[in-house]
Parts: sequence; C-alpha cells; structure tokens
Amino acid sequence: MEATFYNTKKKRKRSLKSLAILAFITLLLFSLVVGCSSSSQSKTVQENSQRPILVQGPMPIEAEKFAQRLENVKKEKSGTFEFYIGTVDNYPVIVAKTGKGMENTAAATAVAIERYNPIAIINQGTSGGHDPNLHVFDIVIGKRTVNLGSLKTADRDENQGIDPTDWKPMDLMASEGSAGEDPNAEKIRYYQGDKDLLAAANAVKDKYTKGKVVEGTIGSADVWNNEVDRIKWFHTKYGTSVEEMEGASAAQIAKAYDVAFLGIRILSNNKVNGGEYNPNTAAANQDYVYEVVRKYISMLPSE
Ligand code: 5AD
Repeated sequence: MEATFYNTKKKRKRSLKSLAILAFITLLLFSLVVGCSSSSQSKTVQENSQRPILVQGPMPIEAEKFAQRLENVKKEKSGTFEFYIGTVDNYPVIVAKTGKGMENTAAATAVAIERYNPIAIINQGTSGGHDPNLHVFDIVIGKRTVNLGSLKTADRDENQGIDPTDWKPMDLMASEGSAGEDPNAEKIRYYQGDKDLLAAANAVKDKYTKGKVVEGTIGSADVWNNEVDRIKWFHTKYGTSVEEMEGASAAQIAKAYDVAFLGIRILSNNKVNGGEYNPNTAAANQDYVYEVVRKYISMLPSE
C-alpha cells in the first residue's frame, strides 16, 4: 500500500519535471523567434558585429550628400533624427541628420550611441570663420572643440548695465555642484579631438583641393555672431578658428560615453574677412569627410 503510494508520487514528480522542461524549451523557442523578428533595428550593425562610424550633419545639405554615397542603405527615424545606415568599403557607417543646434545634436548623439554603439563620431558641416587667415571653402579639423555659450556674467546691481566682455567661461563639467558658486568652474572646457581620427583627417588633406585644411579650434553655441568685435573676443580668449552650432554638444556626449570624437568644419562664411556665405561648401565638406572615413576604416585593426 505504502509502496504504491510512493510510486504514484514518484510518477507525478517525474511528469511535473518533464512538464517544466517542456515549458522551458517552449519559452526559449518563443524568445528566439521574437528576438529575431524585433532585432531589425540595426541589423546591418549586428550582422557583421563591427561597431559603426557615425557621421553627423545638422541640415539636409550637410548630411544627404554623404548618405547618398553609402551602400546597402536603410533609413531609421527616432523623433526628428534620421539615420542612414549603410556601408563604406564594406564597413558599417551611419549618417545622422541631427537638425540644427546644441539640443538636437546632444539628443541625436545620445540616441545614436544607445542604439548603434558607434566606435567613432565625426560631427561635420558648415561654419563661420573667426580666423582672418581662413577663407570660405577652407576646412578646420577640430583638434579641440569648445562650448561658446557656457558663460557666467559679472556681478552687477540694478542700473549697472551689461558687458559681455566681462563674462567668464563656465565649465559645466567641472563638478557636480553649483557652477554659479564654484570658482573652479570659471574656466574653458575644451574637448580634445581623438588622435586616430585626427591622424586619418591629416593623412587625406591633399585629396581636398577647394581650399586648405588646417587643425584648429571649433567653437559652438546656439548663437550666430555677426559682431566682429565679439568674434575677435572669442578668437583671442578661446583661440577659436571657426564657430558653428553643434560640435561641442556632440563632443560632450561622446565624452560622457567615452566614444572617439572629431569635429570637421568647412567655412561657409567669414565675417572677419568679408567671406560671403556659400551653401556649396556643405557638399565639399562631405566629400572630404568621406575620404577621412575611408582612411579611418583602413586604419582599424582587422578582426
Ligand atoms: N555662426 C553660427 N553657425 C553657423 N553655421 C554656419 N555658419 C555659422 C556661423 N557664422 C552653421 C551652424 C548651424 C547652421 C545655422 O549653420 O552649425 O547648423
């Protein structure tokens, strides 16, 4: 009697066990099927397991020329940000149309890093000259990039007026405390260009024939400066070669995630020496950046 009871218990235990195994296998198969169909997000990237190079441009004229040169392209959107996912020389490259300005660019950079895990980021496009020796169609490779809108004003009471030349640079990354109260935050924060990206950019300088290519400092803010004295103030105080509205925000986010970064900017205008705005510079810059990307790919260690 006892033995029969014991055997039934054993049998029930065994069938429970096989039921559990069956459930586990079903779950595994199900998650595999779901996993495969939902991983279309960045297949190009995952298929060859190489981390892509991300090339950013703010306006359509600053991104679409490069995007047209990609092979095996598919397009993805996130918010207003557009990502052209393709290849150059069989290596994954993503062109991002970020939209203009610091906020769009910071957000588009974070989204791209989270989604595509890039090995390197190149932020490129047009700019306005701060250096009188640079002319429309010349290109600046960003040895450094700096935020020109991060400032602390002087202490002045009512009716004491305003004086932007008294404003001090403010480093928002100096500490986690109040930047307004922290004297250590009263300094310029430069984001350094990645040395391998700089090497690639320097190596293909001669392929660009529409102007000269120089290393320099790229300044960014959501401001278009047309006051020559103010431009000169930045040029002297920050050592800026050009100004634009995106580079420093992309550099800041790239640094937050420890991703290699380089800004590459062509002069589309230069108020300091009378250089008139020319929109054709946007395409010329993308042609040069395409050569930089090819060079960088050739420098990457093969798997
Ligand atoms: N000042 C600021 N931004 C400029 N741009 C081109 N020239 C200048 C300039 N002189 C770029 C910015 C932005 C758009 C207005 O053009 O990066 O994307």
